[in-house]
Amino acid sequence: MQRIKSIEALQRYRKKVSGRIGLVPTMGALHAGHLSLVTAAQNANTKRTNGKKVNAKNDNDLVVVSIFVNPTQFNKSSDLEKYPNTLEADLQQLEAAGVDAVFLPNFEMIYPDNYQFQLTENSLSKLYCGAHRPGHFDGVLSVVMKLFNLIKPDYAYFGEKDYQQLSLIKGMVQAFFLNVKIVSCPIIREADGLAMSSRNLRLTPIERKIAPQFYATLISDTSLADKKQQLASIGFDVDYLEVMDDRLLAAASLGEIRLIDNVPLDTLTHGIRGTSS
Ligand code: PAF
Repeated sequence: MQRIKSIEALQRYRKKVSGRIGLVPTMGALHAGHLSLVTAAQNANTKRTNGKKVNAKNDNDLVVVSIFVNPTQFNKSSDLEKYPNTLEADLQQLEAAGVDAVFLPNFEMIYPDNYQFQLTENSLSKLYCGAHRPGHFDGVLSVVMKLFNLIKPDYAYFGEKDYQQLSLIKGMVQAFFLNVKIVSCPIIREADGLAMSSRNLRLTPIERKIAPQFYATLISDTSLADKKQQLASIGFDVDYLEVMDDRLLAAASLGEIRLIDNVPLDTLTHGIRGTSS
């Protein structure tokens, strides 16, 4: 696995390699959710005939992962400072998974303009998570655009846990005629239902025991108002519970840790009680 630590090295790598590139952008602290994106990007590479790769329509020849804790998408400096850093373990996991290259930039490389130029979406990005984390999606869209411009992937892989992010990135690709296909990958959950997230590492043991109630409450056969009340009574500080597209999206904090999750409405037994969905 090539470790690429500068823009120049990335540009050299990009000139040298040919074939389709699948990109998995991450902020590190990798877990099985990230590795499922890598697997999705790699699926092509396992299909071989006599040792030769056989490409299906959306197969990749190379899989590149980026690890960059992007400061511009953190609206609280304490959240950025405490974001888990497990770089050595991350690199070992990516190496073991057979990733071709990992891009490891720093702030100065990604933001030579010190973030004077940024990308803003003016509608969806202001709702839900955007309403509670001002500037968050500007940071996400700006860094993803930069990664796309630098790496020029054919496919890029994002998890459905960050459903609003996924939708905004798809919108950005359309709006700017970007030549990359966005592949959305299902949420990966712990055995107790908690959606995998790097921030779960920061839950205290007691919070970790309570955290699965978030998902359990989302899928319970109750109204939105009851779900909110139930979460509050367990100790969650609820930011929102809202229907977007055909999903119920939610964000709530447990102590210092903000959790987000979502479920397709058609997986709920009776839709959501008290709504027509
Ligand atoms: O989902 C994430 O981990 C981040 O928002 C992303 C897409 C890597 C951009 O920093």
